[in-house]
Amino acid sequence: MTLTASPPIPRAAGSVPLLGHAIQLMRDNLAFIASLREDYGPLVEITLQPGTRTIIVQDPDLIRTMLTDLGPGLDKGRFFEKMGQLLGDSVVTAAGQEHVRKRRQLQPAFARSETARYVDIMREAVTTAVGRWQPGRRLDVREAMVELSLDMLAKTVFSGSLDEETFLQLRDDLSVVMNGVGARIMLPDWVERLPLPFNIRFNQARDAVRATIHRAVDRLQASGHDTGDMLSMLLRGTDEDSGEALTAFQICSEILTLAVAGTETTASVLSWALYELARHPDIEARVLTELEETLGERPITFQDVTQLPYLRRVIDETLRLHHTGWLVTRRTVTETRLGAWTLPAGTELAYCQHALHRDPTLFSDPLTFDPDRWLDSAQPPPSGAFLPFGAGKHKCIGDRFALTELITAIATIARTVRLELPEDQTVRPVARATVRPRTLLMTVRPRKPGTSR
Ligand code: HEM
Repeated sequence: MTLTASPPIPRAAGSVPLLGHAIQLMRDNLAFIASLREDYGPLVEITLQPGTRTIIVQDPDLIRTMLTDLGPGLDKGRFFEKMGQLLGDSVVTAAGQEHVRKRRQLQPAFARSETARYVDIMREAVTTAVGRWQPGRRLDVREAMVELSLDMLAKTVFSGSLDEETFLQLRDDLSVVMNGVGARIMLPDWVERLPLPFNIRFNQARDAVRATIHRAVDRLQASGHDTGDMLSMLLRGTDEDSGEALTAFQICSEILTLAVAGTETTASVLSWALYELARHPDIEARVLTELEETLGERPITFQDVTQLPYLRRVIDETLRLHHTGWLVTRRTVTETRLGAWTLPAGTELAYCQHALHRDPTLFSDPLTFDPDRWLDSAQPPPSGAFLPFGAGKHKCIGDRFALTELITAIATIARTVRLELPEDQTVRPVARATVRPRTLLMTVRPRKPGTSR
């Protein structure tokens, strides 16, 4: 493959035959990708799959062009293709007209009116979770947030379609699947065909998740009952082209991918937000004051979600400093012009939000957690520098849903308990399906009502 009539694109050092850059990625993918921003210019080439070039797009303008102007003409690339192979095709993996059709089928479930309906269910899920945390005990916050996010998603999106036992099993299996998907994106394809325990466990968990959703679909179909959730909605849906109902396999793939796209992400952002609040008592106190002034004693409702500007800035700052995305991919279908470069058909493209959001040329003092950088009067980041939910036709369908979850969860947790970080703990990020804290243990302290203590 040659890149024609355009400036040369440097190759990142350290690629080896058969494995490409897999060793650097498996050792510390975040550090490797971050180092590319320091060492190379707007575009740099790495090798994920030997024989295929992957161009990492580092310049914010070029990233935005790739996602928006070029978006409709690009395939989704390796990350999503891998997801499709592992989980089945869905709105997340589809491109072109197929994507437009699938997105249209799901869109009604993410309408503003639906999200408004979900807030009470989300708040109840949070209240139940917090009620289970024992005062004085150390809580594995990362695990608790995965449980909570899956709970919020399951109760709103699958609502009446899963019983408790099935739900718990699904939660465990999904964790294995989510971690496995992340790891398999970094490894050449041949590795996943080896009979390694890691591969066997992944395949078993994936099959179990699919079987669980399949059973729920079958049960719902047989009962003819409409539980008003997304599963029921998909069951009512038809394929626009053929006019036929979606198959159970198609429905499973959509639900499975939504569960992966909507659980890991929210859980990671929640974990990081609680971590930053614990590290910054002054910021936590301002959040509590705002909640007190806006809500008084009453629980949060949908109307409040847009009335908490400081909490919203805390969330934006969490999405900046601790973005969950470490590699979003696309692929050219035809020869494509990106800035000064002409890329042949079949070129893999990717960008890393985590590294982008920490670039000191785009954000002053980028490693400092400062929600006030988002004040209207402050310097706005350059276009394409802050992409928490992506941009263009593949922009996150669940953005409003996610922000509502985050605000509802943090408001409810922060007013009920204080989560304390042990002094001896070092919290490091690890990037698998998302960038999340490797370990995050915090001690649960009951909050004295109406105080920041
Ligand atoms: C804080 C949490 C979340 C973050 C940071 C996030 C981030 C993103 C980003 C960056 C994309 C664009 C990927 C691309 O450019 O290809 C995306 C797409 C997507 N997200 Fe989210 N997401 C979150 C929560 C959710 C939730 C809760 C759901 C569903 C319940 C969801 C479902 C999806 C789907 C289906 C897509 C694919 C959209 C398409 O290609 O048309 N996400 N998300």
